[in-house]
Amino acid sequence: MTSDDRSGYVLGDSRTELERLERQARFYAPGTEALFKAAGIAPGQRVLDIGSGAGDVSMLAARMVGPEGRVVGVERSLQAVETARTRAAAAGLPQCRFEVAEIDAFETEERFDAVVGRLILMYMPDPVAALRRLLRFLAPGGVVAFQELYFSGARGYPQSALMDTCERAIRAAFAHVHGDLDMGVRMFETFCKAGLPDPKLINWAPAVTRAEPEGYYIMASLMRTLTPMLVQAGLMREDEIGIDTLERRLIEEVSDKGHIYIWSPLVGAWSRKP
Ligand SMILES: C[S@@+](CC[C@H](N)C(=O)[O-])C[C@H]1O[C@@H](n2cnc3c(N)ncnc32)[C@H](O)[C@@H]1O
Repeated sequence: MTSDDRSGYVLGDSRTELERLERQARFYAPGTEALFKAAGIAPGQRVLDIGSGAGDVSMLAARMVGPEGRVVGVERSLQAVETARTRAAAAGLPQCRFEVAEIDAFETEERFDAVVGRLILMYMPDPVAALRRLLRFLAPGGVVAFQELYFSGARGYPQSALMDTCERAIRAAFAHVHGDLDMGVRMFETFCKAGLPDPKLINWAPAVTRAEPEGYYIMASLMRTLTPMLVQAGLMREDEIGIDTLERRLIEEVSDKGHIYIWSPLVGAWSRKP
C-alpha cells in the first residue's frame, strides 16, 4: 500500500501488527463477549465473522457455539488468515474456518445464524452497502452484531501531552487513509439504512490507570504500527513521536499524574434479519 492510496487499510498485516491485534483482542474480549451474549450467540449456531484478522473474534464465537456449531472468518490478508488458522488449531477449535476474500467479493452458498464483526465497518467506504450485501448470507431471523469504535468518546484526566500526541497521530493517519474512527456512533443509522429493525446498542468503555495500564501499552503499540506511514506521508515527524521511547515516556507521564483514561468506547449493535 502506498501512502497516497486513500482507499487502503491503514494498519497493514505485518507480524508486529498481527501480534498487536492479538493483544488488543485480549483487552476487548469482555466487551465483545457481552455483545455476543446479548445478541444470543449460542451453541450449535453458524457464525460468519467479517474482517477476522488474527482470528480472535472467530475464536471467541467458536467457544460460544461449541463443537456442534461452526464459524467462518473472512479476511483479505493471507498472512492474517494463516495466523488465524494456526491459532485456532492450537486452541483446539476445529469448528473455526478462515477464508481469504475481499468483503465486497466474498461469496458462499452457506447460510448463517449470525453475521458478526469487530472494527471492520469503519474501514468500509460504504458501510450500509456492505451490511446490506452481507445480509444475503444470513438465514431469516438471523443475528447481525458489529462492534465499532467511538474514538471521540475517549477522555483523559488530567490532560496528558503524550496521550494528546497519540490521539492526534491516530486521527491524522485515519484521515489520510480511509477509516471512520467514530463509526460506533453511526451504527444505529447504518443498521436502519441497511434495512434492519432498530438495533439494540451496548457501549463498552474500560478505564485505564497505572494499576491497569494495558490500554497505554496498546496505544503505544498502535503508534508503532502507524509511525512509518505517518512519517512517510509527511503527517508527523519521527522526532515528534520518538517511537523507541514512547511507551516508557507514556507510562512515566500518566503514572506521575495519577492519570485516568476512559478508553474509546466500543459501540456494539445487534439486530435480526426480518
Ligand atoms: C482492525 S482489524 C480487526 C480484526 C478483528 N476483527 C479483531 O477485532 O481482532 C481489521 C481486519 O479487517 C481486514 N480488512 C479490512 N478491510 C477488508 C476488506 N475490504 N475485506 C476483507 N478484509 C478486510 C484487515 O486486513 C484486518 O485484518
